[in-house]
Amino acid sequence: MNSKPTNIFAVRSRIDAAARRRRNGHRGGVLWLTGLSGAGKSTLAVEVERSLFDVGYHAYVLDGDNLRHGLNSNLGFSQEDRTENIRRVGEVAALFADAGFICISAFISPYRTDREKARMAARQDFHEIYVMADVATCESRDPKGLYERARRGEIPDFTGVSAPYEVPESPELIVDTMSFSVEESVQQVLDYVSRKFKLAD
Ligand code: ADX
Repeated sequence: MNSKPTNIFAVRSRIDAAARRRRNGHRGGVLWLTGLSGAGKSTLAVEVERSLFDVGYHAYVLDGDNLRHGLNSNLGFSQEDRTENIRRVGEVAALFADAGFICISAFISPYRTDREKARMAARQDFHEIYVMADVATCESRDPKGLYERARRGEIPDFTGVSAPYEVPESPELIVDTMSFSVEESVQQVLDYVSRKFKLAD
């Protein structure tokens, strides 16, 4: 696992980013949703994906619960495993962005340094969106019943209960799901996409 690859030579694509943008009609990039479990990341991600798809954008969701069944099925919720989870997803999201997609990722991603590494993978195409809802709100929603189980001590290292969440310091966008409905929150992200991903006419 720790042996570094050697004798590796990068292959350069013969399609540049500008050509992909022209073909797609929009920029590629990563909308990195971060926030507590129950804050609304997955709901927002699939609604934004649907809306973007309907008006012709190439958009694709990477979701924590889904990827933990496949690519990241060997990872748990220790700090080390979360770091590896986000490292992999950050790299995959950057590849989607490079391919011209709007990649919408929905992971708690509780550690700032892990999110910064994901940002470094996609560089200027990375947009951090803080899906803001406090523990009390998420706990009152508790769509999966996980907070209740975590409070009973049945889930160790549960974010917001027995594991930390480091609030983003300067995200590109904050969506406050305590104050806004799903529709309003989706619209805020769509407005952001219109500002940042459309090509100049
Ligand atoms: S992350 O911290 O590594 O970014 P990720 O977004 O992939 O987490 O997965 C979070 C989802 O896993 C939660 O929405 C919840 O359904 C589930 N989960 C299971 N155990 C935990 C835990 N200990 N802490 C947080 N979420 C957990």
